[in-house]
Amino acid sequence: MVHGPHIVGVQEVSVEVIEMLKCGISGERIARMLGVSRTSVWKFVKKLEDLGYVIERKRGLGYRILRSPDISPYEVASVCRDLSLIDEVYYYKVTDSTNLRAREVAKPRRLFVAERQTKGRGRYGRSWMSEEGGLYFSITLSMPIEYVPRLTLTTGVSIARVLNAKLKWPNDVMFEGRKLCGILCELVGGVEDPLIIVGIGINVNNPSCGISLKEIYGREVSRIDVLSRVLRSFERYYFKLLSGDWDEIRREWIDLSETLGRYVKVRTVNRTYEGFALDLDEDGGLMLDVGGKVVKVFSGDCFYA
Ligand code: BTN
Repeated sequence: MVHGPHIVGVQEVSVEVIEMLKCGISGERIARMLGVSRTSVWKFVKKLEDLGYVIERKRGLGYRILRSPDISPYEVASVCRDLSLIDEVYYYKVTDSTNLRAREVAKPRRLFVAERQTKGRGRYGRSWMSEEGGLYFSITLSMPIEYVPRLTLTTGVSIARVLNAKLKWPNDVMFEGRKLCGILCELVGGVEDPLIIVGIGINVNNPSCGISLKEIYGREVSRIDVLSRVLRSFERYYFKLLSGDWDEIRREWIDLSETLGRYVKVRTVNRTYEGFALDLDEDGGLMLDVGGKVVKVFSGDCFYA
């Protein structure tokens, strides 16, 4: 048996059973293998059908999954099995905000996934539209505080790469000038041992103020496929960042940027700068030419002039 992260509320064995059901197996065989009654197997099959699995039942042959739902706790469990970054997964059909759930649990290496959020949080206290059909998740990490500005930019690169998208400083993922994905990195705990919450919202099949993958591809897109590709990419870039390859990531960010080379307005907490976006410096700051003077900004809201 392959051991993956613990999924809160999901028995590890269920994921194994689903794998078997995808190939086709008799209820009797599952019952024998697990040492449970055939009625428990039947109940589990029923539960899967309620979650949206389409299951064929053939007399003498048993059960076979014909179609899996777009996303389910079991599919997320299966995706996370070969990820070394995640120890535990929390899955919600609906919650207020996965970043808030992450804050509550307050442990690193956790993944929080929701099918819908009622109080999705955006940057600068804004709300994030989180209707059914989108992908809303948060990852918790423990890393030295100085990595944080780089981590947010790295997250953007890891997502833009798999979605074939561009980046707007600091970390909006854009497609043809419209927002496809938002990232909200939050810090909790002390400076010595902070917990970083990386919240990611991707417009997949949901209505949004930006653009969705469904609009881009002209058809519904599987949320589990998107989650799987994004998590794998995120993990790869995260380890790249930790192993000291920031300069390579920074160059990739520059490559993917739609902000550099434009006149922009950047609103920081205490002032607004208007200037030409020159570069992303080694610390992850945006270099602006403001009336002939070079200014470096680390965070803020960016608007195109
Ligand atoms: C932005 O303003 O661009 C950031 C939006 C981040 C939204 C995601 S959805 C998952 C996670 N939970 C939240 O409440 N917000 C983030």
